[in-house]
Amino acid sequence: MNPSKTALEIVHHLPPHYLERTLREDVRAGLGKPAKTLPPKWFYDQRGSELFEQITQLPEYFPTRAERRILEDHAREMAGTSPAETLIELGSGSSRKTPLLLDALMDAGDLRSYVAVDVSDSALTGANSELSRNYSDLTLQAVAADFESQLQLLPKDGRRMVAFLGGTIGNLEPDARAQFLIQVRELLGQAGGSLLLGTGLVQPPEILIPAYDDPSGVTADFNRNVLRVLNAELGADFDVEAFEHVAVWNEAEEWIEMRLRATRAMYVQLPGAGLEIHFDQSEDLRTEVSAKFRPERIEAELAAAQLTIAGQWTDPDKRYAMTLAEPF
Ligand code: SAH
Ligand code: TRP
Repeated sequence: MNPSKTALEIVHHLPPHYLERTLREDVRAGLGKPAKTLPPKWFYDQRGSELFEQITQLPEYFPTRAERRILEDHAREMAGTSPAETLIELGSGSSRKTPLLLDALMDAGDLRSYVAVDVSDSALTGANSELSRNYSDLTLQAVAADFESQLQLLPKDGRRMVAFLGGTIGNLEPDARAQFLIQVRELLGQAGGSLLLGTGLVQPPEILIPAYDDPSGVTADFNRNVLRVLNAELGADFDVEAFEHVAVWNEAEEWIEMRLRATRAMYVQLPGAGLEIHFDQSEDLRTEVSAKFRPERIEAELAAAQLTIAGQWTDPDKRYAMTLAEPF
C-alpha cells in the first residue's frame, strides 16, 4: 500500500534527544522530592493524545464544547478585530476547533498560513492530514516544539495571531504562566498582532469536578497514562493499576488538581532517570493543575506581560472565556 502523502511536513524544532533529556530532568526534579509532582506535557504520547480526544467528547467536559460555541458565535468578530496573515496555534493537539478560526480569518482578509505547534508528533500528524484536505490555499506548517521554551523559533514576520486554546494556559502554574505570556508578547513584537486565549472560568465544584473525574473513567485512564509514558521511556516499573485517579478543587489557588494516589505502599525503579522512589499507602503524586480564572485575573496577568484586551467573549453558561489581547 502506498503511504498517503501528507501535504505538510513536521518541522522538528526539538533538538535530538530533547524529550528524553527533559523528561529525565523533570522526573528527577518532580519525583525526587517529598511532595511528588510531574509537569503536564508528558501525558501526550499517542495514546495520551487519543485519550484526550475522548475527554473532549465527554458530556461532563465542558471546556471544548464551550470554546467551540464561542468560536461559532464570535470568530468573525475576532477575525475582524485582529485580521492576521498567519495563525500560530500553540498546543494545537487535533486542531479540531481551528477551522472555525481559519474560515473567519480567511473571510476577514489576508490569512496566508497556519502554523500548528505541539510537542506531540502524533497529534500534529493527525491534524495535518485533516487540514491539508480542506485548506489547500493556505501554507500549512506543523512544528514540533515546546511552547514553554521555544517560541523564539516561530515565524516573526507579518501580522500574526497566536491562538492558545483549550484552557491549556491553566495547566501552567502562576510563575510559568507569567514567563510564558512575556515570551508570547516578545513573539508578537512590534508588527501588530494578537493573542487569542481560551480559559476555563471559576465555577462551583459540582460543575468542575465531574469535568475532571468522569464516571466512565476516561479521565482516570488519561491521568494514569503518564505512568505508562514513564514506564516506556525510562524503563520504570510503575504498577499503573495500583494508582487511583483523584481530582480536587483547590479553593485557595482556584485550580483543579489532578493526582494519582498510591493504593498501597511501594517502591518504584526508574532506571532511565537513575532513581528509586517510595510511595506510602495513600500518598499522592500531583500530575496536573488546571487553573480556572476570573475575568479580573485574566486582565491582570495579560497586563503584566504588556498585553491589553481587545475583545472578550464567553459562552451562554459563562463557563469559559476567550480573550483577544494585543501588545501595548
Ligand atoms: N488545543 C487543543 C488541545 C489541548 S490539550 C484543544 O483545545 O483541544 C493540550 C495540548 O498541548 C496537547 O496536544 C499537548 O501535546 C500540548 N502540549 C502540552 N504541553 C506542551 C508544551 N510544553 N509545548 C507544546 N505543546 C504542549
Ligand atoms: N488542558 C486540559 C484541561 O486542563 C487538560 C486535561 C483535561 C487534563 N482533563 C485532564 C489533564 C485530566 C490531566 C487529567 O482542561
